[in-house]
Amino acid sequence: MNESTKHHDSQNPMKEPSPISRRQFLKGASVATAGTVAAVQFPSVVHAQAKQPMNAVIIGVGGRGSGAGGNFLEAGKTVGVDAKIVAVADIFPSQARGAGARFNVPDDKCFSGFDAYRRALEVPGVNYAVLATPPGFRPAHFKACVEAGKNIFTEKPVAVDGPGARIMYEAYELAKKKGLKVAAGTQRRHEANYNETIKRIQDGMIGDIVTLRAYWVNGGPIWHRGERGETALEKQVSNWYHYIWLSGDHITEQHVHNLDVCNWIMGGHPVKCWGQGSRQQLGSKSGEIWDNFDVEFEYANGARMFSYCGQIKRNWASVSEAVHGSNGSANPANTILSRSGKTLFRFREKFVSGYVQEHVDLINAILTDTELNEAKNVTDSTLTSIMGREAAYSGSAVEWDAILNSKFAYGPEQVYTDSSKMQWGDFRTLLPPMPSAHDIFKDPPVVPVAAQA
Ligand SMILES: NC(=O)c1ccc[n+]([C@@H]2O[C@H](COP(=O)([O-])OP(=O)(O)OC[C@H]3O[C@@H](n4cnc5c(N)ncnc54)[C@H](O)[C@@H]3O)[C@@H](O)[C@H]2O)c1
Repeated sequence: MNESTKHHDSQNPMKEPSPISRRQFLKGASVATAGTVAAVQFPSVVHAQAKQPMNAVIIGVGGRGSGAGGNFLEAGKTVGVDAKIVAVADIFPSQARGAGARFNVPDDKCFSGFDAYRRALEVPGVNYAVLATPPGFRPAHFKACVEAGKNIFTEKPVAVDGPGARIMYEAYELAKKKGLKVAAGTQRRHEANYNETIKRIQDGMIGDIVTLRAYWVNGGPIWHRGERGETALEKQVSNWYHYIWLSGDHITEQHVHNLDVCNWIMGGHPVKCWGQGSRQQLGSKSGEIWDNFDVEFEYANGARMFSYCGQIKRNWASVSEAVHGSNGSANPANTILSRSGKTLFRFREKFVSGYVQEHVDLINAILTDTELNEAKNVTDSTLTSIMGREAAYSGSAVEWDAILNSKFAYGPEQVYTDSSKMQWGDFRTLLPPMPSAHDIFKDPPVVPVAAQA
């Protein structure tokens, strides 16, 4: 491990905050009190009489959907509730069948196709939906779950553009009105180590927050599944990470976790950003996305967040966050240091992963009818990542209201209206974005399309 790796490693919170001017310091002065910790502290066992069974449907049963299904079943055991997976839905029949066999779901409850999610939601008794498709479908699926009155565990991210985020915000309001419970796959919010550390940061242990840093820098490339299927849509959905309308690109797809931690600490989202990035190592592989981004975000009070993400082969790597305050610094995963480097707090309990805990918290919220709706937080953090991506793609500074109200939709129209009506067929592929040649805010937007093969 070289020095710079140590510096950002999650076990090594920074000891030397960058010098801060008094002006910057004052601008950050109200931050510490602005945040609200979204800690979800439910007991692991709820009174027996409250225990209605949990009947789940999993929508999108690839790697994470299958993992989340297992986490849900384990959470059911932890809480002591009758938890079952009663239906699975996947766009591809083989995926649905495979997951059905894994979770003992009868064949007639293993749905496939674009409308699989709707048919699964109609299965009698379903009161819990797990959403784990590629994020491009999330707004449509989330909205359908809310309309059908289901409690939801939604994987992150929850949109890939402004139009999708607006669907999420509306559905969040409706879910609140209906009293539905929603947990999101930003699992750090369900981990005691983050909760205990962030609570202390928000209580002022490092003074006023001035800067934050967020990293999802992989030391290697992301998977690429090649060209599977007949039509353009089939090829894109199979290899979804590489298409902006499906994944939102790396900054949205994965870095949203670290951006979410920073927003959580700050109690809100940034208002502006500028940045850069490139498609450095994907070369001639099919797809539209970039493989690295560096973005500087500014919060309403002037505090800055420096964000770095990349999926390229390289020696230094880190997935972590860091916070600098007027009186110290912190690794929000577990450690708080004074300005002189003295340890003010270190989380010393056994680490408990958020993957099961997020379902324990959601099940308990349902059983006790306690408020839990993480849809707004995860949408805010998703849109933060989208704002950063568009700043880098276009080479311009981008403001929150512009991205929130952006009319440019990356996906096919039906993804935003009723994705169950989609059919396999053609869809355009974009050229990887080039700063100054890509701009979704122009009227009409400038987004170069690749020539058809
Ligand atoms: N919270 C975490 O730590 C974490 C970890 C991994 C993945 N994820 C998230 O989970 C989601 C899925 O990722 P994955 O790694 O499981 O991908 P995956 O490719 O392994 O699985 C996605 C599944 O969704 C299916 N699918 C695609 N379009 C669909 C549609 N319209 N309707 C129904 N099914 C559809 C695919 O056929 C596939 O089986 C992503 O949003 C990802 O960010 C979160």
